[in-house]
Amino acid sequence: MERMRATVFHGKDQIRVEEVERPHAGVGEAVIRVTLTTICGTDLHILRGEYAVREGLIIGHEPVGVIEELGTGVTGYQIGDRVLVGAITPCGQCRGCLSGHLSQCGHGEGYEALGGWRFGNTINGAQAEYLLVPYAQANLAKIPDELTDEQVVLLADIASTGFSGAESAQIKIGDSVVVFAQGPIGLCATAGARLMGAALVIGIDGDKDRLLMARQMGADIVLDYRECDVVAEVKKLTGGGADVTIEALGTQATFEAALRSLRPGGTLSSLGVYSGKLQVPYDAFAAGIGDHRIVTTLCPGGKERMRRLMEIVRRGRVDLTPLLTHTFSLDEISEGYKLFGERRDGVLKVAIKP
Ligand SMILES: NC(=O)c1ccc[n+]([C@@H]2O[C@H](COP(=O)([O-])OP(=O)(O)OC[C@H]3O[C@@H](n4cnc5c(N)ncnc54)[C@H](O)[C@@H]3O)[C@@H](O)[C@H]2O)c1
Ligand SMILES: [Zn+2]
Ligand SMILES: [Zn+2]
Repeated sequence: MERMRATVFHGKDQIRVEEVERPHAGVGEAVIRVTLTTICGTDLHILRGEYAVREGLIIGHEPVGVIEELGTGVTGYQIGDRVLVGAITPCGQCRGCLSGHLSQCGHGEGYEALGGWRFGNTINGAQAEYLLVPYAQANLAKIPDELTDEQVVLLADIASTGFSGAESAQIKIGDSVVVFAQGPIGLCATAGARLMGAALVIGIDGDKDRLLMARQMGADIVLDYRECDVVAEVKKLTGGGADVTIEALGTQATFEAALRSLRPGGTLSSLGVYSGKLQVPYDAFAAGIGDHRIVTTLCPGGKERMRRLMEIVRRGRVDLTPLLTHTFSLDEISEGYKLFGERRDGVLKVAIKP
């Protein structure tokens, strides 16, 4: 039996790189040889036991690779094609997908919350030498020759997510936008706000390196939440409240600050993953009649999304490579997890090379 190396979850605080069975492509599926992947904040939640997945699962959901096998029915691709696959792999056939809600893919039925997130969640993931791609026809996005793996790997998840925060908010040309937290997701939301035509982008964080990177990704002004009253400062800078605020952390504090920083009729676009209870303070919410909009988004996936994002990079609209701060081999991935989890040495995203 053919084997491969893969990062396997064995319960809280336990991941190991080990030999497992290599996957093969069935009908409608493909196998890619992974050439580059990375670690997501969500993988840290899994490792810490904060998001439950089954033991024995291969984790990771950000794959770049080369097609190794094509199953029956997958057309228009060749063995050896370089491809990017989104973190979210919609089936393209269910009611959710065909209604345009690809991330809430209903697995052949209606809708299922987060149903499009399969890799490293409900099926084996990308931190491995080979990856089985379901619904390959809907999910393999060919990489233009002129783009490197490093230029596209962050499109699978964090850029798709961060940009979607700006898109879901329906930012208009000339808007003022505040992005709460400048982790990888927030940095991409900052870049997304710029791409959508915001006139003023304010980035908030408490980490000086990240605030510096926020400027590089398109923030006009950065604020350290530890050093100032962010809400008061935003109100001053925007003349009473921002048109759009983007929450990119997933805490009560940032959600609330995002709501308090908004003008009446403004949009709070929420990307963070929350736990426990989330409360909406009625005063900040104008008792429910301030014409506020609160929208949430799960990372958009599918090959058309990936094609569009690769075009943005190919045309020089955005460069995400500065966010790839460190590189590890697959066998060293535990070190990568440690560095990423501890946020040491200015780490933003780690490149993993199987
Ligand atoms: N919606 C989606 O599809 C999706 C996808 C991936 C990740 N996420 C979620 O997005 C969130 C952010 O992920 P990440 O990887 O960028 O996070 P991260 O942990 O790397 O970064 C968080 C940042 O928040 C900053 N911070 C802490 N407290 C703050 C405060 N009070 N105000 C402002 N900044 C503060 C930290 O300094 C850090 O830079 C997480 O909740 C993650 O689970 C959502
Ligand atoms: Zn992720
Ligand atoms: Zn579907």
